[in-house]
Amino acid sequence: MPALPNILAIESSCDDTGAAVLAAGNMRSNVISSQKVHSLHGGVVPELASRDHQKNIVFVVQQALQQANMGLEQMQAVAITAGPGLLGSLLVGLSYAKGLALALDVPLIEVNHLDAHILAHFIDEPKPQLPFMCLLVSGGHTQIVLVKEPLQHQIIGKTIDDAAGEAFDKGAKIMGLPYPGGPIIDQLAREGNAHAFAFNQPKVQGYDYSFSGLKTALLYFLSDELKNDSAFIEKNLNDLCASWQRVIVDYLMSKLKKAVTDLGVQHVGIAGGVAANSYLRQTLGQMGQELGVATYIPDFQYCLDNAGMIAKVAEFKFMKAQFAGLDLAPFTRG
Ligand code: KG4
Ligand code: ZN
Repeated sequence: MPALPNILAIESSCDDTGAAVLAAGNMRSNVISSQKVHSLHGGVVPELASRDHQKNIVFVVQQALQQANMGLEQMQAVAITAGPGLLGSLLVGLSYAKGLALALDVPLIEVNHLDAHILAHFIDEPKPQLPFMCLLVSGGHTQIVLVKEPLQHQIIGKTIDDAAGEAFDKGAKIMGLPYPGGPIIDQLAREGNAHAFAFNQPKVQGYDYSFSGLKTALLYFLSDELKNDSAFIEKNLNDLCASWQRVIVDYLMSKLKKAVTDLGVQHVGIAGGVAANSYLRQTLGQMGQELGVATYIPDFQYCLDNAGMIAKVAEFKFMKAQFAGLDLAPFTRG
């Protein structure tokens, strides 16, 4: 078995520019530069995102090397997110990574952003045992995935429309809160009554999800209430956030629980940006106790978009000599 390599990883799929150094199995640095510009626009503006990546990428990579106390010449591979993501954003990272790999004469490793969110569970101890079931919940994706081998993932269920993160963000927007709304809802919900308002969970077959009807239900509910009281949202903001968070999380967990029970899996985790949600984290722990299964949540820095998780997938791929050519093209959909 060859020794674990030194990898420089870059992530630029959406609105965070990330670089990380994973050296001989140790995460030596994980630098993230989050773009603030999008909050002014109520969502990520693709053109602005790629321009910011272009502006930040050199500095972020330098920071990652500096914090790792290592030089470029010590890197044995360059890893890059090839997709899914925004085309312009991906292209900035991909072009830079290709240039580096070529200049250093080391292999380029292609990483799928969704695989990376899931394999973030394998960065720190305790690591899940396989087979492992992961609820991947981010701004663009919602999937229940069965991990049979580190690089062998089977999608058991997925959203047929909006992602869970979008449900948080769009709900927040309807309530007049800034983007991204997920963390703000989480914060405001702490002071609210989660049973103040009831929203029905969407009915979708099997392990699939749907969030678009839920969002419309919130919109109609609030426009009715606002007709009677124009200050309804301000007066009930904490309760609204807590109730909205409850329906999303309870719905996510109901399908996950069914999948875990039906497939008899003993190791279960959550990943992606929404895995930062405090109520989801708490509910996962409760499910673990109830079903007698081990539950896992990656360290907070590895839940949101980051390059550390890209480096981890790349390490698995390096050990299997799965390298990309310099003709690697980005892909936008997962
Ligand atoms: O994984 P991520 O950083 O980016 C994508 O790959 O999409 O996830 C971003 C999503 C956003 O929708 C954001 O609102 C949501 O994760 N999010 C949260 C929380 N922190 C981030 N949603 C609920 N509660 C949170 N604490
Ligand atoms: Zn992500």
